[in-house]
Amino acid sequence: MDKALAAKQLEAVLKQASAYTGKGSVASYIPELAKEDPGQLGVSICLPDGTLLSAGDADVRFTLQSISKIFSLIIALCQNGQKQVFERVGKEPTGDPFNSIIKLETIKPHKPLNPMINAGAIAVAGMIQGKNIEERLNSIVDMLRKMTGNPSICVNEAVYCSEKRTADRNRALAWFLKDSGILTTDVEETLDLYFQHCAIEVTAKDVARMGMVLAADGINPQTGERYVPEEVARICKTFMVTCGMYNASGEFAIDVGIPAKSGVAGGIMATVPHKMGIGVFGPTLDDKGNSVAGVELLRLLSQEWKLGIF
Ligand code: DON
Repeated sequence: MDKALAAKQLEAVLKQASAYTGKGSVASYIPELAKEDPGQLGVSICLPDGTLLSAGDADVRFTLQSISKIFSLIIALCQNGQKQVFERVGKEPTGDPFNSIIKLETIKPHKPLNPMINAGAIAVAGMIQGKNIEERLNSIVDMLRKMTGNPSICVNEAVYCSEKRTADRNRALAWFLKDSGILTTDVEETLDLYFQHCAIEVTAKDVARMGMVLAADGINPQTGERYVPEEVARICKTFMVTCGMYNASGEFAIDVGIPAKSGVAGGIMATVPHKMGIGVFGPTLDDKGNSVAGVELLRLLSQEWKLGIF
């Protein structure tokens, strides 16, 4: 790849996608997120040799939100193994919004359909082991610090507290899971862990580095250091394709064709197997909760660089 040319193309794509920031709105159900400047858009690409190519607001900090569901799943799978995890959470897309409750009751057995929806991620948080919440949270934060080489990654307390104060829907999901025997740990403690891992703060550059580790099957391609078992990385990338963009995952797979995971703060982590990790930040969302300019940016980039995996 000609890096100078790629950097120019990235600038051009960012400029084109910026026109879309006005087509969505910033998440407001977590009050702290409503304060974001809606005009922001940033992108960063991490290549296997560690090079970062960035454009726009790539140094602005935002919270992972649902992108963190990939990393809580990694820890839960490493600690418990596939058999135990998939006894409590399924592997199927839902076609419903990310915070939907309906299928928890109508589908049998009453387990969340996948770990990318809120109910599934709360069930996964319940499976993360440790002697207290701090230790359980640190297993995720430590892994992210290693993957990004950024030791300052931590939880944004204001966003965490804002969600904790207003998360009645997630509370309802968690209590339902408790009643169904899926959640066997303390409900409020498990929610606390979930809210905190959603509020881990990063930049698009950090997210690009995380995406690169998954693109390299779980290792840092420069050093060979392994952070995620290959099989677990494979499972995560598959969930990113089938459920990563919620009930827009099918459309995204056809239009963009790259494994990706979005969050309501406006981040998207995309991973192009063996080629690159991509971090995008654009806080205005479409009606499914995905960054509207971020999705457009990835679509344009995928077209320009022929990144689609299908
Ligand atoms: O639980 C929630 O609603 C948020 N902490 C995370 C949701 C989210 O990011 C959905 N993504 N698009």
